Amino acid sequence: MKQNKKRILTGDRPTGSLHLGHFLGTLKNRVKLQDEYECFFIIADLHTLTTDFSKEKTRGLNDRARGLVLDYLSVGIDPEKSVIYQQSRVPEVTYLSTIFSNLITVPRAQRVPTLKDVMRDLRIEQPSLGLLNYPVLQAADILMVKANLVPVGKDQQSHVEVSREIAREFNKIYGEVFSIPEALIGEVGTLVGTDGQAKMSKSVGNCIYLSDDEETVKTKVKKMYTDPTRIKPTDPGHVEGNPVFIYHDAFNKNREEVKDLKDRYTKGKVGDVEVKEKLAIAINKVLNPIREKRAQFEGKNELLDQIIVEGSKKAQFEAKKTLDEVLKEMGL
Ligand code: TRP
Repeated sequence: MKQNKKRILTGDRPTGSLHLGHFLGTLKNRVKLQDEYECFFIIADLHTLTTDFSKEKTRGLNDRARGLVLDYLSVGIDPEKSVIYQQSRVPEVTYLSTIFSNLITVPRAQRVPTLKDVMRDLRIEQPSLGLLNYPVLQAADILMVKANLVPVGKDQQSHVEVSREIAREFNKIYGEVFSIPEALIGEVGTLVGTDGQAKMSKSVGNCIYLSDDEETVKTKVKKMYTDPTRIKPTDPGHVEGNPVFIYHDAFNKNREEVKDLKDRYTKGKVGDVEVKEKLAIAINKVLNPIREKRAQFEGKNELLDQIIVEGSKKAQFEAKKTLDEVLKEMGL
């Protein structure tokens, strides 16, 4: 079958619920990409083993994969248009990864910047072979479906670079099997956390989740970090770098209201309570359609599993095709 639409692969490790940072940074964009491209969304459960290999963690993986599908569906990723699949259901990827691991040196893998970051953050003294191999497995994900474009955050760019190098190396040694994938780096920066920390992140506990209900959003917004120099509502406040206004800019579609609030805030003519109440309303407006979609699928585990199984079959079809080509060129 001829491939006329360009192909996209991206996805997530199933480590927990998705939040507004994910929504802004990538999910919104994925929903748009679905119409223009042939999209594959990977639930990269094998990648979680590189840091979370305890039995408690591995036994929860299928549940978390289901949770991730639910998050995907709720924002409008559509299994009729796109392929959602679970990495471990396509074991061909590990075969490719084994072959690819010979096409990259250990020092090259050690130079991938995310390795140092993960080791520092998780206080890992010596990386396992699996952790060192992380970008190689990701290269196998990407090249397995012959993705042309890989929409990822800046932190993942180095992994796409490894994929490009491996593709070139394979083509040079054995014959042209792979096109060279390109990273599509989102221009949206990371979203600050509700506590004003640089990044909304599950491990910090400063997130608003897509699955939070209205009341939870109100409570979280009420507690948000704001201008610390402002004691009384009559003090002129700072809008720049203030998380409450960063969120207003990102989520409040009523631009007039945002402009008015900023105006009054800088002049000391509005209290934090009003600014935050309006923000909670705006965020809930964004989340309401997502909640409605979620409600259609929530608790329907059989349906969710079916979506994963069907998607994984489609991904496996592509994987087998690619692996056949690879083995043929290699003479295996
Ligand atoms: N490493 C990615 C992350 O943590 C997840 C991932 C695995 C991925 N395989 C991929 C992303 C292939 C894009 C393409 O975010």
